[in-house]
Amino acid sequence: MTTRRDLNSASVLGEGSDDVGTPILELRAVSRVHGAGAREVRALDTVSLTIGAGEFVAIMGPSGSGKSTLLNLAGGLDVPSSGGVLVEGVSLERLRPKQLAELRRRSVGYVFQDFNLLPGLTAAENVAFPLELDGRGWRPAFSAARSALAECGIADLADRRPEEMSGGQAQRVAIARALVGPRRLLLADEPTGALDSGTGVAVLELLRDRADRGAGVVMVTHESRFAAWADRTVYLRDGRISGATGPSDPETLLTGVSK
Ligand SMILES: Nc1ncnc2c1ncn2[C@@H]1O[C@H](COP(=O)(O)OP(=O)(O)OP(=O)(O)O)[C@@H](O)[C@H]1O
Ligand SMILES: [Mg+2]
Repeated sequence: MTTRRDLNSASVLGEGSDDVGTPILELRAVSRVHGAGAREVRALDTVSLTIGAGEFVAIMGPSGSGKSTLLNLAGGLDVPSSGGVLVEGVSLERLRPKQLAELRRRSVGYVFQDFNLLPGLTAAENVAFPLELDGRGWRPAFSAARSALAECGIADLADRRPEEMSGGQAQRVAIARALVGPRRLLLADEPTGALDSGTGVAVLELLRDRADRGAGVVMVTHESRFAAWADRTVYLRDGRISGATGPSDPETLLTGVSK
């Protein structure tokens, strides 16, 4: 059973608490296989990875190397073919669907590669939605949503619908939705993809800040200059971890290529 967190407590993000260093996310020999026989695709192959509280990890690798697959499994949106995924020590495979949905809403902020905003709802409604689903009243949910939009520098878009926004604006709304509430695990798939470099840096500052306040952050990126904001970079190739480096490694900073 998951326990209900105190949603209003500042210590939810680890501030002043003693849990920095405890795993927020663990992948234990996780594989994900699509299809069978000659059509089998091993999207992820026996990947093990632990992300601690306060840790910001970048995932890099060529197209098709399994980056989105890894994030989907970490966020409980997809189920491994073998191996186990634990979020804050809770094994996802042991949860009933309702409990899994609850854990995803409360503990996991997800920025999708294609944003996944709900059409027809304004930016503020999109951001408030997970909090409302979680039983927060309309007023506090909206107030938290407006703060998250302001934090992302897009307070003025609160009443705009996704179909009335540019790609970069929609991406920032998706980021605000992931940051809203006391999420301990942030998963971001190319969160800087549709942004100019200045706005991209602003998004990295937000993710870095969340990690510094005790969240575990996993970000997929194609750019090594963005990966340099992370504490370490994990490289995927053909569904397997092909290398890992820290941001201070000069070879990583210069080329983004693992050793
Ligand atoms: N539903 C599916 N059915 C079959 N194969 C799939 C499915 N989803 C993903 N794959 C395959 O799994 C592999 C990993 O895909 P994934 O989306 O994780 O790559 P990625 O690293 O995120 O790529 P990109 O950088 O292009 O976003 C790819 O070969 C892909 O074609
Ligand atoms: Mg992808």
